[in-house]
Amino acid sequence: MQDSQEVILSELRSVRDYIRWGASQFERSGLYFGHGTDNAWDDAVQIVLHTLALPPESNSSVLDATLTPSERKSVYKLIQRRVDERLPTPYLLGYAWFCGMRFKVDERVLIPRSPIAELIEAGFQPWLTSEPRRVLDLCTGSGCIGLACADVFPHAEVDLADISDDALEVAAENIAWHQLGHRVVAVHSDVFSGLEGRKYDLIVSNPPYVDAEDMSDLPAEYHHEPELALAAGPDGLEIVRQILREASQYLTEQGVLVVELGNSWVHLQDLYPEIPFTWLDFERGGHGVFLLTAHELETHKDAFSAE
Ligand SMILES: C[S@@+](CC[C@H](N)C(=O)[O-])C[C@H]1O[C@@H](n2cnc3c(N)ncnc32)[C@H](O)[C@@H]1O
Repeated sequence: MQDSQEVILSELRSVRDYIRWGASQFERSGLYFGHGTDNAWDDAVQIVLHTLALPPESNSSVLDATLTPSERKSVYKLIQRRVDERLPTPYLLGYAWFCGMRFKVDERVLIPRSPIAELIEAGFQPWLTSEPRRVLDLCTGSGCIGLACADVFPHAEVDLADISDDALEVAAENIAWHQLGHRVVAVHSDVFSGLEGRKYDLIVSNPPYVDAEDMSDLPAEYHHEPELALAAGPDGLEIVRQILREASQYLTEQGVLVVELGNSWVHLQDLYPEIPFTWLDFERGGHGVFLLTAHELETHKDAFSAE
């Protein structure tokens, strides 16, 4: 028999109690973790610390602190919503972390989690020889990739492009939140169509790339994210093919293109066996991110325009 809310709220007292109870609830309910944490315990820690307005790096001495009655109710409510609605934790909290920066997120945008974060933090070394002056974050969603680039490259001008007006509204809020409006703009664009005549030293993209098979197997948590941010046709390459066809027109001579396509990398290799994609490695996990230079894109443009 399940304990009633009343029993739980009276028996559980400390921060430790609520984290433990939340983690147990999450494990028992078979939740999926892939939106910022990869296990039940870390998800529970995030929810409890957030509700108590405690910083994520709080000292372990807070574990024994007692919650007030209203704090207990608030924590209980969020833990129940995580279980009942299968809502990913960042949507419950209203924000997510990426490259050490906090981004507003809601169900209009994908929750930031791209392994490209590691490349940004490393300043895209050794692939870029100097700081890029103009950067494009294509398929920007919340704007996390482009805004993190603006943070790492303090002199760069950055365009955040997306086809979704909803996503662009969130990106604009994040531009304002990070006070980067003087160097970063949100642009409505169907792939490159809204960017005519612009040239970039760096184009970074985490486009929709989930193939039809993976779309049909997605855990419930992913159904809260916009389908437009995930689905990309039978082989997941609908947008990636278009990027490859057109990117060279939008890159400077020394420019570089970086694209994430996760599991769909196998379809790309099958489609273009002769293209020398540089597949990037990640220390913190992630796969299916390639890099091509403007020169490589130009050299192989016939192969890309044939598809
Ligand atoms: C996988 S999400 C990536 C969001 C963000 N870059 C990130 O890493 O969290 C893909 C984004 O591409 C956008 N998108 C889908 N089709 C597009 C298109 N044809 N042109 C531009 N953006 C598109 C979606 O609206 C969504 O915001």
